[in-house]
Amino acid sequence: MSRGDTGVVEDQLPEHSLTDGVVTLRPLATNDAPAWLAGEDEEQRRWFEAPRPSQLSDVEQFITDCQESWRTMGNHRHWGIWSLDPDVLVGGVDLRALGNDEVNLSYLVFPGQRRRGFALRATHLVLEYAGTTMSAQTVIIKMLSGNEYSRNLALALGALYVGDEPSDGGATFHVLRLRLHDTPREE
Ligand SMILES: CC(C)(COP(=O)(O)OP(=O)(O)OC[C@H]1O[C@@H](n2cnc3c(N)ncnc32)[C@H](O)[C@@H]1OP(=O)(O)O)[C@@H](O)C(=O)NCCC(=O)NCCS
Repeated sequence: MSRGDTGVVEDQLPEHSLTDGVVTLRPLATNDAPAWLAGEDEEQRRWFEAPRPSQLSDVEQFITDCQESWRTMGNHRHWGIWSLDPDVLVGGVDLRALGNDEVNLSYLVFPGQRRRGFALRATHLVLEYAGTTMSAQTVIIKMLSGNEYSRNLALALGALYVGDEPSDGGATFHVLRLRLHDTPREE
């Protein structure tokens, strides 16, 4: 379900927002930086191969870069994920255009908010966006070997394992591929 299907008055949603009535996705604002930083944990650093814990200035720069890509409608589209009740930032999800009708999908949910279906809801929303707004046909999802939570989420979306490749940090990525018309839909 996208913003057009929710009954939410569209003018009440910031630009580029998506919602299914349980989560809302919207681009991060500069004043979201402390909440974003507070959501970082060892598991996130491990699976994103972060060399060190982030500092507030790192997050502020990240948000600035995301905003710039939104301003130019560039290749990187990143949204924060908010639960609606209560209205709390619980994670983030992003798409990167790879060319050839392909996008890369990535996601994270903060500790204490995991296993509540937020990532699955957020990814369904951005997959619809990828197909309709970015004209994507294929979604690539890469996770480090051993990241079973991420792999299970990708499989739940309908993605299929297509092979391994070296990660940026010298480990191994499992690469999964999803044809958008194969995406299972929530009832
Ligand atoms: C991967 C991650 C985003 C999943 O977020 P989440 O909100 O907990 O996921 P959901 O609750 O939407 O679960 C979706 C599906 O993912 C799988 N999954 C999620 N957490 C799982 C767990 N602890 N054990 C097994 N499967 C899990 C399941 O298939 C689940 O469906 P189910 O609950 O119906 O079985 C989250 O664990 C996370 O942020 N991890 C750290 C960052 C990270 O690894 N990001 C991905 C980098 S490639």
